[in-house]
Amino acid sequence: MMEAIKAPRGTRDILADESWKWAHVLKICREVARDFGYNEVLLPIFEHTELFSRGIGDTTDVVEKEMYTFIDRGDRSITLRPELTASMVRSYLEHDMIHQPQPVKLWGHGPMFRYERPQKGRYRQFQQVDFETLGAANPLADVETIDTSMEIYRRLGISNLQVLINSVGCPECRPVFRSALQNFIGDRLGDFCETCQSRFERNPLRVLDCKKPGCKELTESAPVVLDSLCGDCRSHFDMVTSGLSRIGADFRTDNRLVRGLDYYTKTAYEILAGELGSQNAVCGGGRYDNLAEAIGGPHVPGVGFASGIERIVLTMEGQGAYPGEKPGTCVYVVAASPEAGLEAASLVHEIRSKGISADTDYMNRALKAQMKRASSIGAEIVCIIGSEEMESGTVGFKDMTSGVQEPIPRSEVMARLTAWKEARR
Ligand code: HAM
Repeated sequence: MMEAIKAPRGTRDILADESWKWAHVLKICREVARDFGYNEVLLPIFEHTELFSRGIGDTTDVVEKEMYTFIDRGDRSITLRPELTASMVRSYLEHDMIHQPQPVKLWGHGPMFRYERPQKGRYRQFQQVDFETLGAANPLADVETIDTSMEIYRRLGISNLQVLINSVGCPECRPVFRSALQNFIGDRLGDFCETCQSRFERNPLRVLDCKKPGCKELTESAPVVLDSLCGDCRSHFDMVTSGLSRIGADFRTDNRLVRGLDYYTKTAYEILAGELGSQNAVCGGGRYDNLAEAIGGPHVPGVGFASGIERIVLTMEGQGAYPGEKPGTCVYVVAASPEAGLEAASLVHEIRSKGISADTDYMNRALKAQMKRASSIGAEIVCIIGSEEMESGTVGFKDMTSGVQEPIPRSEVMARLTAWKEARR
């Protein structure tokens, strides 16, 4: 026999026992988007490679090592999107949203692709929800962004999150910090791990992000970015922290927080969940005032965040944060004899047409097996049609919660079910 084909490494099939949780996450995101004034956009899954190399930055891990890039049949370099922010800004520019009342607040969701080493919470295809506010330089837009993400988790019943916030400065003050940090690292370069050594020249800020205990210890006394901020970045940061305190947000300043994407200016933040293990960021975001220019547009300030749905669901599962039960089928129609098949099919059709979920048996199972099936799918009412019921024009109506079964005229079944549905609301 030929070897069976499996899903590629780093991808997952989201099966029925999990997909309803995803639907719930998206439902909450959609409600939060509505309440906070974000409009949904659906953007392409692949883009010109240049969008990401120019937008995210050539020296980032994402662009250097993780993109799914290929040449298409028209000889263009195409990349499966590793994130949504660059596409959001591209779309804003392409559709002249700059001429709409500002800020323009967009949200979207869908699969992203990064060639990373798979582990719990880290996949090569994963899904994000992404919220962006374009056109506002006001630090209170940063506060709203962080508040939006926290509101999603609050409504999902997720708690115990750590909100970490930092400023990564701007092109004016970051070089000052960069050279201070480079001087510090340069003095002890040999003691850092190989990855940090390779980042020393090209992207020294990422050295602060190294999780290796030795490197972490070495950077404990490194210069901190908040000490090098220019006046504008400093007052922006102070306003963001004041705004967060004012709305009662539980957050902590983390002056070692740097993000893996190069477009960030000023605010950078992450939300961590203990349930996730080493891949503990459920959310990441910040401000990116120069991204629009980097991809060929005018100056458009922006701020936003993205959250991985796999990690949201893992956190919910870890915390037992579940809203109700997995949705099931309300009514099961049992055809207790072969002649009852047509009548059962017609009843199931009628029930569904009234917006009540219903199912029936197509496997010619015995009555007992059909009843077992009805309870395994969580049916609350079972309608039984056998030869006796066919003859008398009745249906056996069984309430699975009370266990009471009674014959009722076929003509009354729909009225009974509609009344039952109303009472259940
Ligand atoms: P990011 O930190 O790269 O930021 O990703 C955001 C979130 O996506 C992470 O916190 C995590 O929950 C999830 N995520 C990232 N990579 C993976 C993976 N390989 N497997 C599973 N989940 C993952 C961004 O993507 C920015 N575009 C966020 C942003 C929006 N900044 C401003 N606006």
